[in-house]
Amino acid sequence: MIRLNDRLAAVFSVIDPTDQVMDVGCDHAFLAIALKEKYKDMNVVASDNKEGPLKHAKENIKKNHLEGKIELRFGNGIQVLDEKTDTVVISGMGGLNMIGIFKYEEAKRKQIRKIVLSPNSDVESVRREFMKMGYQIYREKLVRDGKFIYPVIDFRKGRVHYGKKDLLLGPVLRKEKSPLFLEWNQKEIDRISQLIKVLPKGFWQKRIRLRRNLKIHKTVLKTL
Ligand SMILES: C[S@@+](CC[C@H](N)C(=O)[O-])C[C@H]1O[C@@H](n2cnc3c(N)ncnc32)[C@H](O)[C@@H]1O
Repeated sequence: MIRLNDRLAAVFSVIDPTDQVMDVGCDHAFLAIALKEKYKDMNVVASDNKEGPLKHAKENIKKNHLEGKIELRFGNGIQVLDEKTDTVVISGMGGLNMIGIFKYEEAKRKQIRKIVLSPNSDVESVRREFMKMGYQIYREKLVRDGKFIYPVIDFRKGRVHYGKKDLLLGPVLRKEKSPLFLEWNQKEIDRISQLIKVLPKGFWQKRIRLRRNLKIHKTVLKTL
């Protein structure tokens, strides 16, 4: 069995045996390989928009004796979705890139029941924009990768309205209040406090936004 790092292992853990998966931005294809090893009947597609990573993916698939069992696709985001796929996974990209991949592909989105995202940045925007596209958060976890803590969000089709607190903290995470969530929340308090101190005078709108976020992060401490 291929060994996944903690982040990809967390992504892997929210994939169900009946999901038909496309891993967008597969790079090395480790996730696709692990999925196909465990779920023999799963339709697994791995895609990337660059030749180098796809070549790498092809070599790894061969090394793991899965040639012909994982389909490789070259192309941008979900533009190269195949008809069988109902679950899209994207890990290790910026959140704004993830939003862009889905936002303008309304027709392709229709067949997608489940989206698993592990963004590197802009997590609040990811929660907001996928909510607007008609997805709700079914589960969410945090995972430590080196000195960073990343979310893994399992979105499912469904209309919902999240307020500011849910969008900033995560509706599931803020209820569960795991030790890793509390650690991430404290890091955010420290990071935002520092940012407010060094922000040039003219940036008053940003300062207001940061203060508002800081206040929300501090409410978590009050409800422990
Ligand atoms: C940092 S790697 C992440 C690899 C893997 N998903 C992981 O989590 O370990 C990001 C990959 O996404 C690919 N990528 C970036 N934007 C993309 C897009 N719009 N469509 C498809 N692939 C994309 C890059 O070429 C790169 O291979």
